[in-house]
Amino acid sequence: MSHPEVVPEALIVDTVGPAELPSPLGLSAVKGDEIADYTTDDRRLPLDPTAPNAASGPRFELAGARERIYFAGPKVNAAIVTCGGLCPGMNNVIRGLVMQLWHAYGVRRILGFRYGYAGLSERREPPWELTPELVKDCHHQGGTILGSSRGPVAAEEMCRTLLELRIDMLFVIGGDGTMRGAHALAQEVSRQGLPIAIVGIPKTIDNDIAFVERTFGYATAVAQASAAITAAHVEATGAKNGIGLVKLMGRHSGYVAASAVLASRDANLVLVPESRFDLDGPAGVLRFIEQRLAARGHAVIVVAEGAGQELIESESTTDRSGNQRLADIGVFLRDALRQALPDAPLKYIDPSYLIRAAPASADDAIFCGQLAEDAVHAAMAGKTGLLIGLWMNRRTHVPLPAVVGRHKRISLDGSFWRNVVETTGQPQLLRSR
Ligand code: F6P
Repeated sequence: MSHPEVVPEALIVDTVGPAELPSPLGLSAVKGDEIADYTTDDRRLPLDPTAPNAASGPRFELAGARERIYFAGPKVNAAIVTCGGLCPGMNNVIRGLVMQLWHAYGVRRILGFRYGYAGLSERREPPWELTPELVKDCHHQGGTILGSSRGPVAAEEMCRTLLELRIDMLFVIGGDGTMRGAHALAQEVSRQGLPIAIVGIPKTIDNDIAFVERTFGYATAVAQASAAITAAHVEATGAKNGIGLVKLMGRHSGYVAASAVLASRDANLVLVPESRFDLDGPAGVLRFIEQRLAARGHAVIVVAEGAGQELIESESTTDRSGNQRLADIGVFLRDALRQALPDAPLKYIDPSYLIRAAPASADDAIFCGQLAEDAVHAAMAGKTGLLIGLWMNRRTHVPLPAVVGRHKRISLDGSFWRNVVETTGQPQLLRSR
C-alpha cells in the first residue's frame, strides 16, 4: 500500500472560492448532542496509516457536509451527466443527487445532460429538467435514465455549454476515461476563472480507479458474476470431465473475476489481466486443466476479458473512449480447450452485459446514496476538480489530477490474490519463468 510517488500536495482539493455562507442543513458542531455533525476540512485520513510519516504524509480530506458553504441553494443551477459503459447504480446516484440538491439545499434547477459528454457538445440533445417526481422510481431499474456514451468532447466546448446554460455545478458519473474528461473540464473552467464546481462520482464494475477502494456497481457485478460461476459449476459437474468456462469483464484489472471466485468458491482457475500465463507447456493452462480433470472429473475456469491478450494475434484498434479494443480471450480459450481436450464437454458462459445492466444490489444502493449525498455536500461547499472516493471505509475527496492516468490493479504480491489462488487451487504461476 505504499505510494511513494504521491506527495501531500497532490491530495489537496481545489475550491471555486471561499465557503462563507451558513449551511442550511442545521447539523451540529458539538460532539454528543445527538445531532449529526458537520465534517471539517482539517479531519484528514492518511493515505498509508502504517507509514512512519503518516501524519505529515499524503492525507485525504474526508467527505461530508460542511458548516460553511459557497453556493446559495435556491440560486444554484446544477447539472448531471452519466458517461461510459453502463454500471449498476447509475440511476441510484442520479436520484440521490437530485433528492439531496432539492430537499437538503433547496436547489430548484437541475439539468440532466443526455448521452454522456455528447450532451454537453454544441450538437447536444436538449437536457432534461430533473425533479424529485421525475427520478423517484428510477433506482429500481438498471442503466441510466439520462443515457450514456463513450468519447470525449473538447473541454472548451463543454465549458461553453455550461456557461450558456448558466450551470454552477456539474456532477460527472463515470469511469477513468470520464474522469480524464472531468479533469480537463475543471482545468478549463479554472483557466477561465469561472466559479463552476466539477465533482466526479466514480462508476465502474471493474473497480480500477486509483485511490478508490471500491467503486459503485462493483459489489452488484461480483454478486451477478458469482451466479454465473455457480451455473458453470452445475454444468461442469453434470458431465464426465465437464468444463465450465465463464468470461467476465475487467479490462485492466481482474477484480470482478477474482472476487466472484472468492464468493462462489466453485472455480478452479481464474485468469486476470495482472497475471501473464502460458497456454501450452508444462506450466501452462491446458496442462493444469488436464490434470484437474484427471484428479476431480470436472473444472471451472473464470477469465477476465483483459487477460492473456498477448497470446492472441489481433489488429490494434481503439474505441471512442480511446481504450484498445480487446481480442476475445473467452472464445480463444474455449476453442483452445476444445481442441486440446476433445473428450471434455465444455460449456461457455459470457454474462458480461447481463451483469452490467442489473439494478444495484442493496449494498451498492446504500453506497450510491452516500456517494451522491457527499458529492452534493462537496459541490455546495465550492469544492471542485475532485471525485468522491472510499478509503479505509471512509468516504473521501480525491483530487482528479491524482486519479487521472493511473489504474488500480490487483497486487500479485498481496493477500487478496493469495486468497484467490488458495481458493482455486491453481499454481502461483501458470508459466515457465
Ligand atoms: O466499464 C468498463 C467495462 O465494463 C470494461 O470492463 C469493458 O471493457 C467495457 O466496459 C466494455 O464496454 P462497452 O462494450 O460498452 O464499450
